[in-house]
Amino acid sequence: MYAPLKKDNTGPLLQVRGLKSYFFTRGGLVKAVDDLSFEISAGETLALVGESGCGKSMTSLSILRLIPEPGRVVDGEIIFDGQDLLHMPPNEIRRVRGNRISMIFQEPMTSLNPVFKIGEQIAEVLRLHRGMTNTEALEQATQLLTAVGIPAAESRLRDFPHQLSGGQRQRVMIAIALACDPQLLIAD
Ligand SMILES: Nc1ncnc2c1ncn2[C@@H]1O[C@H](COP(=O)(O)OP(=O)(O)O)[C@@H](O)[C@H]1O
Ligand SMILES: [Mg+2]
Repeated sequence: MYAPLKKDNTGPLLQVRGLKSYFFTRGGLVKAVDDLSFEISAGETLALVGESGCGKSMTSLSILRLIPEPGRVVDGEIIFDGQDLLHMPPNEIRRVRGNRISMIFQEPMTSLNPVFKIGEQIAEVLRLHRGMTNTEALEQATQLLTAVGIPAAESRLRDFPHQLSGGQRQRVMIAIALACDPQLLIAD
């Protein structure tokens, strides 16, 4: 998790306290995250380290309220920039996602839409969250692709995801995550 330094915040940007996220499966209760607490301030980088299956991804998804069924957050607090994410109305949490908190998912092929050109997919975020026109958004998309190290960015805007290598797709995901200049970036 990375929180770029943007303002002199007093207090942490994100506080997670006593987080418990459980799966209520037919086979029984799975405690994916069990009483986790941490915080991150603007300008800091925080790494969650642990073996496969220890709950890193579910922690990230809990913050964005994207835990899949039959899982849910059963206890704890997630306070972001003074706001209680767990009790925020659905329309407000949607505005936080991808705008103030971005997430880079582990598997780029499941997050990129195979039927849209990558330029359109980056531009969509900028139009939606930043109110840019299509021309402005495509211009910005070129700059973002260049910033994440994709050569000849302007011509790659017209490529579909399958025309890029796995590493390039991951870079496109990073470009999308950075598009709205988030306060917090979560890299799963
Ligand atoms: N859909 C699911 N149903 C039941 N249990 C799940 C599901 N998804 C994840 N889990 C459980 O949550 C735990 C944490 O998973 P995860 O956060 O993905 O681990 P990782 O640290 O590898 O990212 C896993 O041990 C798994 O048993
Ligand atoms: Mg994981």
